[in-house]
Amino acid sequence: MQRTSQKVSMAVIRRLPKYYRYLENLLNKEIYRISSKELSRIMGFTASQIRQDLNCFGGFGQQGYGYNVEELYKEIGKILGLVREYKSIIIGAGNLGQAIANYSDFQRKGFKLDAMFDINPKLIGLKIRDVEIFDLDNLEDYIRENNIEVGIICVPFSKAQETADRLVEGGVKGIWNFAPFDIKVPDNIVIENVHLSESLFTLSYLLNEYNNVEN
Ligand code: NAI
Repeated sequence: MQRTSQKVSMAVIRRLPKYYRYLENLLNKEIYRISSKELSRIMGFTASQIRQDLNCFGGFGQQGYGYNVEELYKEIGKILGLVREYKSIIIGAGNLGQAIANYSDFQRKGFKLDAMFDINPKLIGLKIRDVEIFDLDNLEDYIRENNIEVGIICVPFSKAQETADRLVEGGVKGIWNFAPFDIKVPDNIVIENVHLSESLFTLSYLLNEYNNVEN
């Protein structure tokens, strides 16, 4: 597979994790080869959309053969950067922070959780799946001394920006933000927001639209 140097659109990049997930499911079912028609059926993308997406990276698949699932899975994993470890920390060890820490699949995919930080003295010193919760006071030093690349923000929204500022000051390269706040970071820092309520409100809209059509 040849990588192209052209800039790939964000829309394509947003679809890649979905390809990755479906291909992993196929591999778990020991399916190693799939036609473009079948892949398009299970994913809900047209075959031409899939071809176009994958052509951005030089193309995969062969006429008359379809896609080699394992090869495609590995290549998309490489494109997504899931081939190395990212040392990560969680700030805010409450309900959501602990739920993320307990979800081991992120670690299996390379996001190694090194530590958690909180301001609540009752939480400091506890461990979630062997990962210790530290006092926030030591945040910047910890990031520097341990080469932490990713900060995961799970603090209340009123503390989100100051938490991000401290993560940046410490030297993280990327932030995964769960707080419902549009954090500002310098251009050299990558930020990915997960606003669960936006997704929930979309569901609410669709439920109402569906009910209106039904009635
Ligand atoms: P929580 O109240 O259970 O946990 C927040 C934790 O942050 C607490 O342990 C608190 O001591 C700590 N904290 C407060 N200020 C801090 C600071 N400056 N530095 C470090 N730690 C600090 O709240 P929860 O439910 O875990 O939510 C956390 C964030 O995630 C919120 O912004 C919330 O809106 C967002 N969120 C939560 C969801 C959920 O399902 N729980 C879903 C989507 C978003």
